[in-house]
Amino acid sequence: MIYALIAGTGSYLPGQPVSNSDLVARGIDTSDEWVVERTGIRARHLAEAGTTASDLAHQASLRAIEAAGVAVDEIDLIIVATSTPDFIFPSTATLLQSKLGIRNSGAAFDVQAVCSGFAYALSIAEKFIRSGSHSKALVVGAEIFSRILDWSDRGTCVLFGDGAGAVILEASDKPGILASAIHADGSYNPILCVPGSVAGGAVTGDPFLRMDGQAVFKFAVKVLGEVAGEVLGQAGISAAEVNWLIPHQANIRIIQATAKRLGIPMEQVVTTVAEHGNTSAASIPLALDLAIRDGRVRRGDKIVLEGVGGGFTWGAVLLEY
Ligand code: UT7
Repeated sequence: MIYALIAGTGSYLPGQPVSNSDLVARGIDTSDEWVVERTGIRARHLAEAGTTASDLAHQASLRAIEAAGVAVDEIDLIIVATSTPDFIFPSTATLLQSKLGIRNSGAAFDVQAVCSGFAYALSIAEKFIRSGSHSKALVVGAEIFSRILDWSDRGTCVLFGDGAGAVILEASDKPGILASAIHADGSYNPILCVPGSVAGGAVTGDPFLRMDGQAVFKFAVKVLGEVAGEVLGQAGISAAEVNWLIPHQANIRIIQATAKRLGIPMEQVVTTVAEHGNTSAASIPLALDLAIRDGRVRRGDKIVLEGVGGGFTWGAVLLEY
């Protein structure tokens, strides 16, 4: 049996933390009290003008590659989950490949599943590895959501941040990823979207993130509970056997409600939403890397990663680290 095992992780956050009070000082009509009470967010990182998703992905990837102890030319698959790519094309994954100095290796492509992107990308990479076609995958979530925020919409601009997280996934005879599930229901697309595009050299539609926060909240709590139960069921593992839940970091209240549904105490949930805000596809690998580097997550631990986002899309991965 070929498993896909996480050999190393890395992450990167641009610049200094920007607090809720810093946003107020920049003229956003909000308050630290409101943002903390409704979301748990205290700060986020915002990339400088000129920094791109592939730049953040590059820094996170270098750290993951170092932690895994692999040579870059051993990597035969690169998947970048992003909804804020550098360009329409080429993909952020091929730009990352070039920045890493990898030439003429295996496949490199982007996955666009918004905040579920990392769960999707990990699930896809695992299938490549388990099939035997590829043996060392670099899987990255990298986002610069600050570029698609309407800074006059206080209902959304306070929620998001920029960053990247990466893992090296390699073929192993030891257990790694034990189960995964990814889903979508496109009929929910209007409740979270950036309904614009580029045509004839101009933006058509609306190029900013729009969200019906309450509808997203309800949907997220429902499907996150379901999909975590689904991967546990696939592997025949009970929630009591899970060491860590590492959910997408959008809102501490969604995270608490999901943990409660699963019967997992908050002490076993990795949360970064206070310090990072919602970094979309980057939030899960950022939280995973943090918990590995600070010693909370140890080899042999069973972890559920799960995300939900625009599309709507959602997914979960159960793995043994
Ligand atoms: O990755 C997935 C992406 N998104 C999510 O997971 C987000 C899910 N949804 C949420 O987290 C919450 O719905 C929000 C945090 C976005 C909003 O919280 P809420 O409790 O649903 O608030 P609301 O939208 O119902 O707004 C309540 C009030 C409104 O004022 P009125 O109409 O009651 O006077 C808003 O205008 O809060 C006001 N408000 C704000 N006040 C201060 C909205 N945004 C802000 C703000 N600062 N930033």
